[in-house]
Amino acid sequence: MYHLECIECGKKYQKTDIVYTCECGGLLDVIYDYLSIKIDMERLKTETPSVWKYRELLPIEQEPVSINEGGTPLYKCDRLAEKIGIKELYVKHEGMNPTGSFKDRGMTVGVSKAIELGMKTVACASTGNTSASLAIYGAKAGIPAIVLLPEGKVALGKVAQALMHGAKVLSIRGNFDDALVLVRKLCDEEKLFYLLNSINPYRLEGQKTIGFEIVDQLGFRVPDRVILPVGNAGNVTAIYKGFKEFMKLGITDSVPKMVGIQTAGSPPIVNAIKSGADDITPVLNPETVATAIRIGNPVNARKALRAIRESNGTAETVTDEELIQAQKDLAQLEGIGVEPASATSVAGLKKLIDTGVIGRDEIVVCITTGHLLKDPEEVIDVCAEPIVVDATIEAIRESVFSD
Ligand code: F0G
Repeated sequence: MYHLECIECGKKYQKTDIVYTCECGGLLDVIYDYLSIKIDMERLKTETPSVWKYRELLPIEQEPVSINEGGTPLYKCDRLAEKIGIKELYVKHEGMNPTGSFKDRGMTVGVSKAIELGMKTVACASTGNTSASLAIYGAKAGIPAIVLLPEGKVALGKVAQALMHGAKVLSIRGNFDDALVLVRKLCDEEKLFYLLNSINPYRLEGQKTIGFEIVDQLGFRVPDRVILPVGNAGNVTAIYKGFKEFMKLGITDSVPKMVGIQTAGSPPIVNAIKSGADDITPVLNPETVATAIRIGNPVNARKALRAIRESNGTAETVTDEELIQAQKDLAQLEGIGVEPASATSVAGLKKLIDTGVIGRDEIVVCITTGHLLKDPEEVIDVCAEPIVVDATIEAIRESVFSD
């Protein structure tokens, strides 16, 4: 049993309504009748994590469109912890989802909902990962997917996925924020397609399972902090909702402080948190090597600001140089390959430890949202080139042992 509810005016909508935001313009949340939800604790404590392990807390009644999303590893990262100067650090690697990003958690629910509602075509604007994920779930469901990308600004691996899985890929002359305005009009006003950006509250329901899994994988402990990159600001909101729901159901008794990281070139949420503002001021020309979060006007800002504040969390910026260093540290100290945006979580942790905002004895989970192979061009830019040598023992010996 669930319905949609506006976070601003409280207006309720039925689960059969095709609606993305409230009449008042407010964002919608999926609200369950928590008293009627019965969790089988024995199953919860023994079954391997995956999105659909938690189906009692997901708003889908039919067989879902699924390709085994979720159940991503939570690595204990002692070498990285030592470098940063913290006692207990975990990295939840969402790059290990089917398309290599956390978006699959949202799309398995979002596309399943599209099918339940009888929608014929699904659409999104994207900095890349959402489009890859929509393409693959559209393919699995057998319905067309339309994706709007900012021209020339999407990492190669993501475009490759959207193309190969058969989405209709449209490159917009404009940035992500422009593409999102456009797709919202196409879906909400023109009613041409079903909108699967994270303003659709069903997507966030899938993504909240990251929170469930962290608790599950820590042996039903709640970490002190969860740190993650913030772009359109859906994921930070979703994960916090997951932690809150586990508390509401009596499975846990606390929530972590939520920490959102943005880049110095694209910081609307950080600006609002630091200035105490109720809403963001859009950043007009966001720029960063972390193209996934090159977003100036995050649609879920009002939800995200609440999640960060209510949890006593914070938000911080990192520079492109800092996130590239963190990307290399993750790769070379822990064997975790992530795309640039994902590394902001670790770069942010380092900055907040160095400035004393986060204590060295806190238990911290950093979320790495997308896989290294999403953005191979950035890797080539920031790493040394391969060394070309003659095909002889001597040449290799000389090259390896010369310095
Ligand atoms: N990390 C990665 C790798 C992303 O692709 C995104 C968002 C985020 C973090 C930020 O998550 O938007 O929920 O705050 N990518 C979207 C896309 C915008 O189109 O793929 P958020």
